[in-house]
Amino acid sequence: MSLRLGDQAPNFSATTTEGPIDFYKWLGNSWGVLFSHPADYTPVCTTELGAVARIKAEFDKRNVKAIAVSVDPLDSHQSWIKDINETQACTMNFPIIADSNRQVASAYDMIHPKADDKATVRSVFIIGPDKKIKLTLTYPASTGRNFAEILRVIDSLQLTAHHKVATPANWRQGEDCIVSPSVPDSDAQNLFPKGVRKVKPYLRYTPQPDL
Ligand code: BEZ
Repeated sequence: MSLRLGDQAPNFSATTTEGPIDFYKWLGNSWGVLFSHPADYTPVCTTELGAVARIKAEFDKRNVKAIAVSVDPLDSHQSWIKDINETQACTMNFPIIADSNRQVASAYDMIHPKADDKATVRSVFIIGPDKKIKLTLTYPASTGRNFAEILRVIDSLQLTAHHKVATPANWRQGEDCIVSPSVPDSDAQNLFPKGVRKVKPYLRYTPQPDL
C-alpha cells in the first residue's frame, strides 16, 4: 500500500555513498527529502543529482537533509559520482542509497511495475522532523524534477506548520498568504497584526506573518 500524507515515514538501515545509515538517526531533527531515480549513468538522473548538489546551501538554510536512492549497487553510485561532478559543475555533497535489495524502494512503493518493473520511478517524499510524510510526488522516468519547486513547498510547509495560514497558487517566499479558513474573522486581526484583506468571506489575505 502506498504511503499517504500524514503516514509515518518507514525507517530503514541502508548502505550509502557516505557510509551506512539508520534513516531516522541520520535525519535527527531535520526535515528530509528522500528521492528516487531510475538508474545510475542515465542522463536525466545525472542532471537531477547535480541540481540538488548545487542547491545544498538552500536545503541547509531550511534544516533539510536530501538523500537519493536507486536500486544500483554502491560501486556503481561511487563511479557515477565522478561523472556527476565532472558534468554538472558540482561536488556531490549528499548521500545516495544503494538499494540493491529494494528494501527502501518497497517500503516507499517506488517501483511502479506498469511503468518499469525493475527500476524506481522518480518519487519524492518530504518528511517532517516528526517523521511524518508531508508531501509525495511521482514523476515519470522521462521528466526531470524541478527542485526549486521542492524548496518552494518546503517554505510553505515550514511556514504553515507555525502559522494559521495557507499559501496560494504559485506562492513564493515573501508574498501574501491566505488566512486559514479555520480562523474566524473575530480572531484574524489579532493573529495577523499586519492586516487582513478580505476578498470574499472565504478568501482572506495577509502579509507573510514570519517576516
Ligand atoms: C534518465 O535518467 O535519463 C532516464 C532514466 C530512465 C529512463 C529515461 C531516462
